[in-house]
Amino acid sequence: MTETALIRIDVDRTAGRVDRRIFGAFIEHLGRCIYGGVYEPGSPRSDARGFRVDVLDAARALRVPVLRWPGGNFVSGYHWTDGVGPAERRPRRLEIAWHAEEPNTFGTDEFIAYCRELGAEPYICLNMGTGTLDEARAWVEYCNGTGNTHWANLRREHRHQEPHGVRYWGLGNEMYGEWQIGHLSADEYVREARRWVNALRRTDPRIELVSCGRDGWSDWDREVIDGLVRYVDHHSIHIYTGSHDYWSNVLAPHQADRALRVCRALIDRARYWQRVDREVGIAYDEWNVWFRERDEHSGLEERYTLADALAVATYLNVFVRHCAALRMANLAQLVNVIAPIVATPNGLLLQSVYHPLRLCAEHVSEVALDPLVRCATVDHADPPNAPWPHRVGDLGPFPLLDVAATRDADATAVTVTIVNRSPDATVCAAFELGWPVGEPGVTVELVHGDSPDAINTFEDPDRVSVRSRHLAADGARFELDLPPHSFSCVRIPLAR
Ligand code: AHR
Repeated sequence: MTETALIRIDVDRTAGRVDRRIFGAFIEHLGRCIYGGVYEPGSPRSDARGFRVDVLDAARALRVPVLRWPGGNFVSGYHWTDGVGPAERRPRRLEIAWHAEEPNTFGTDEFIAYCRELGAEPYICLNMGTGTLDEARAWVEYCNGTGNTHWANLRREHRHQEPHGVRYWGLGNEMYGEWQIGHLSADEYVREARRWVNALRRTDPRIELVSCGRDGWSDWDREVIDGLVRYVDHHSIHIYTGSHDYWSNVLAPHQADRALRVCRALIDRARYWQRVDREVGIAYDEWNVWFRERDEHSGLEERYTLADALAVATYLNVFVRHCAALRMANLAQLVNVIAPIVATPNGLLLQSVYHPLRLCAEHVSEVALDPLVRCATVDHADPPNAPWPHRVGDLGPFPLLDVAATRDADATAVTVTIVNRSPDATVCAAFELGWPVGEPGVTVELVHGDSPDAINTFEDPDRVSVRSRHLAADGARFELDLPPHSFSCVRIPLAR
């Protein structure tokens, strides 16, 4: 089966600046993410500090600009002072968010060292569950303090003369959820967060604070945004999607479209009525496909299909299209736990979702464009009883191709990222550019596999893989075949 489509690019039709922090990630003390993923002292695959070198190498290729830690649900019972100082003196604690034991051998200083290795800025989420304001304030001082004061000196005692300079701090994690240790009502949260903001900013006025949001359009979000818009720099969103039903799975990331649209409007409205001139951005600080391993005892080691990779690519396209309001996004999570990278004691595996993440982080450029896309559309009826994150039918009809386009500041090259969601049709796409293709011609990187259900395993690690090819095109128009259930990253130099 073949379909046709038109993708017309106008380099002057811009949609905003893409903040590189949309390629951020998240690591949590959960299952084998930290222990056995990021950190495995004694392993022949680890360096002297215990960091898994193979994991670091795979993560570096994802060009993660900002890394969120230590949770997630974990943080709401975490006392950061347990995780600093000599390892043998750190207490081993009962961990009640994920029913585990926390050895505390990976703590703040290890996290900062890991961020430096990765080239990522640290983003710390504060414990608003069992933690106190005094403890949070001390954490900021430990990380950022420059004076001759107790917590800054404790950092120096731990052989870190220079401050860690942690810019981003989250005001609690999912405090609305009854699964959250010490959860609060929106009203209680706003009151508590205002008290915290005051003391935290007095500890370090340079920090950026993130209020705890839900799906972006809930009453919680409205009340928290109204209550905190004058106090914070960013408001967060968490939505995970996924379904065994192919169409629900690949279309559900459009829920992020709704979330970003409504959340931005709530922020605009609050800023207008409260006369806040300062920008307040959105930090989508947990996102991914996640629907199989939902049991909290499971370790959440999701195995990803090609269809999931198409959904992940769609999320990234949504983020590019909403770049005007989105300041940061954090893939949950980086390794082993709902993650693109799988590490076992003996090896490393790149899951299907790794490929679009790597390609977008490498090739999406700084200026978002608003391309014209003409293609077939899909009507999607949500399956009966579909849980809320997957109910996107009202957002349709959906274009068969999901497309985002970006260019560099000088408009000398364009990157077009395209998901062909058709399970059975090749789409022959005609590109119209306004300028002739320049040297060295068009490069296409294709994420593909023999079936939407294809999964990479240690036995068959390349069932979903990337194929690169070069197109000899020189005019201002060329055609490209987009295979069924595939993702294409198309790079086009322009002769201008
Ligand atoms: O990323 C897994 C969990 O999902 C996080 O701990 C929590 O914040 C969310 O519910």
